[in-house]
Amino acid sequence: MKITGAKKGLRGALMMPGDKSISHRAVILAALADGKTEISGFLRGQDCLHTLKIFKMLGVEYRDKKDKLLIKGRGLKGLRKPDGQMDVGNSGTAFRLLAGVLAGQDFTAKLTGDESIQKRPMGRVIEPLHRMGAEFNGDKAPLVIVNNKNTKQLVGIAYESPLASAQVKSAILLAGLYARGETSVTEPALSRDHTERMFKTFGVRLRTAALPSGKHKVILPNGKHKLKGGLKIKIPGDFSAAAFFIVAALIVPGSKLLLKNVGVNPTRIGLLDVLKKMGAKIIWQNKKMLSGEPVADLQIVHSPLKAVEIGGELLLRMIDEAPIFAVAAALAKGRTVVKNAEELRVKESDRIKTVVEMLKGFGVSAAETSDGFVIDGNPELQIAAPLKINSHYDHRIAMSAAVFGLLNQKETTITDDKCIETSFPGFAALLQKAAR
Ligand code: S3P
Repeated sequence: MKITGAKKGLRGALMMPGDKSISHRAVILAALADGKTEISGFLRGQDCLHTLKIFKMLGVEYRDKKDKLLIKGRGLKGLRKPDGQMDVGNSGTAFRLLAGVLAGQDFTAKLTGDESIQKRPMGRVIEPLHRMGAEFNGDKAPLVIVNNKNTKQLVGIAYESPLASAQVKSAILLAGLYARGETSVTEPALSRDHTERMFKTFGVRLRTAALPSGKHKVILPNGKHKLKGGLKIKIPGDFSAAAFFIVAALIVPGSKLLLKNVGVNPTRIGLLDVLKKMGAKIIWQNKKMLSGEPVADLQIVHSPLKAVEIGGELLLRMIDEAPIFAVAAALAKGRTVVKNAEELRVKESDRIKTVVEMLKGFGVSAAETSDGFVIDGNPELQIAAPLKINSHYDHRIAMSAAVFGLLNQKETTITDDKCIETSFPGFAALLQKAAR
């Protein structure tokens, strides 16, 4: 992809693509429901299309109409043994959540993914699922989930997760649908709660509790579970996609941009809290609920920014936004420090390394630490040289670099930008349109 500097600010009103995390969950729960589900706003990015294709291999029929996806659920026990291995592409969410679903079946199945997936840690889901009675061959992708007609039913566990991870929590809850007894997950802090919200939408009873220790617990009670059919699920715009346009509008002078129908689930919008501290002008409008998730329109006005220090629970709520946050920090006055971000090392790329490398490519003074990075921001930064930035096949690095490229008066080339298709089809065209 080639990006040229924005002549004027970003203007107009835009709709973001559907939320990636929620789209995966909508397909999974619709496939396991008793009856049809109509999904609108489904993200047609490669990650979610892989999930859809996998359920087709598992015997689930669907109709893909222009703006709606109709899924004919087969009930919790209705999936069929797939013919061949199932490929999640680049999607960690698909891999980990499907491991949970496949643990509860009575057939053996093999899950795999691309080069990046084959390097990512899967022990975090294998270990608790094994404690529930699931058997695996391997500890990474490709991974075989071993079952047969005589496999014993899974048993519920009370899992104390060392990580605040929605993928781990969701894999256990999905396996819990097939388990005898109560299943619970306690996590050090509340990770994104889309699974819990969607379980409730599909009529599955769940209890959640914020513990005095600051930990968070979700309990799937003992019982015969059933997911109801006949629902119409509306998926909000993806906040993680909106984040690129939010930062673009903040850093390009003259911008005033409206992003409509964006998901504003509190577990996802840590970036808004941080940007507010940095001095960003962002106005919320029309807040409402959509299929159990909060959404709003966000108006973003170009603003001078100042540096911040972040870590802990706040970082958890903006973990996927770290690369684009780093771009905002590069233009903010002062030194920004990001701590407690070790998880960034095991995302689609080692994002501590790739974020710092991307910033340096634009001439920013930035350095890695073991658990984050330090950025010396410069609001006066002038860039006027042809640049080539390596995406490392990571969609969020590629999109962050594209946003930064709006400030380069010469052309910025981003390598291997096809990875953007995993989460944001049409990104480049939309960015160029807003920044015309
Ligand atoms: C996701 C959870 C997060 C996030 C990922 C999507 C999900 O990962 O980074 O992009 O949809 O559950 P972890 O669960 O590994 O923190």
